[in-house]
Amino acid sequence: MQQPELAGRVALVTGAGQGIGEAVVRALIERGAKVAALDATPDGIKALETEFGAARVTAHLADVTDSAAVERVMDDVERTAGPLDILVNVAGVLHTAPVVDLTDEDWNATFAVNTTGVFNTCRAAARRMGERRAGCVVTVGSNAAGVPRTSMAAYAASKAAATMFTKCLGLELARSGIRCNVVSPGSTDTAMQRGMWTDAQAPLRVIDGDPATYRVGIPLGRIAEPSDIAEAVAFLVSDRARHITMHDLYVDGGATLRA
Ligand SMILES: NC(=O)c1ccc[n+]([C@@H]2O[C@H](COP(=O)([O-])OP(=O)(O)OC[C@H]3O[C@@H](n4cnc5c(N)ncnc54)[C@H](O)[C@@H]3O)[C@@H](O)[C@H]2O)c1
Repeated sequence: MQQPELAGRVALVTGAGQGIGEAVVRALIERGAKVAALDATPDGIKALETEFGAARVTAHLADVTDSAAVERVMDDVERTAGPLDILVNVAGVLHTAPVVDLTDEDWNATFAVNTTGVFNTCRAAARRMGERRAGCVVTVGSNAAGVPRTSMAAYAASKAAATMFTKCLGLELARSGIRCNVVSPGSTDTAMQRGMWTDAQAPLRVIDGDPATYRVGIPLGRIAEPSDIAEAVAFLVSDRARHITMHDLYVDGGATLRA
């Protein structure tokens, strides 16, 4: 019988407790990987460990902004599960406000998680993977990194930084055979997305577009499910993508017209 394509691989997924991160955990487990699920909130990751059993998913409570905590989790994962093969950065936060109203706290918190958090996990993983000359990284960015959005300047800038950081890492590690890619979702049905829906018509404005905020809508006519994003991640971490690195794969139903 054929083995699932990620059998025997060890993966670390951040922001694993809900939404896109949870869907990535499920997609990797389905393909045979053993997953370390990291989140700053305990409930979701503990529920995953209970559902699948600690042989397949382990819960790691940590904040990606804390580099020492990230190093501790990685040591723990490698000691108990084995060498890390796959890192998926999903943890992210969204603070919306026009620039003139954006507080210092919201700006700093956005970059701390979305950009410095990605640096912390990638540096810790790259040190380990680099020595072994094996592994791969996917960072979940956002299509907002590629097209200006009103009230999303801090978020979009933090995601653009994380995207370029991940591509530069991919260049540094390419000769070691380590691939680093980005998956950039558009509007996806999660708590983060629903947090922006101010009334019952909001999802329709996302799909149909909203001239008042210069949004063109989603040509494929639907808001993504978290599993749509997880499928793209699962492909990029698999050997089917062995010749793909420094790529930014938009999974947004065409919302940015890839302009
Ligand atoms: N939902 C969308 O429409 C959308 C669109 C584009 C990009 N994204 C990106 O996809 C990723 C997942 O988004 P989502 O919609 O599932 O969000 P979500 O808010 O539903 O889940 C985010 C998860 O990250 C965790 N997290 C936040 N800060 C953390 C930290 N400091 N350390 C560890 N974990 C932390 C949260 O506890 C939560 O479990 C994010 O990076 C987000 O920016 C989402």
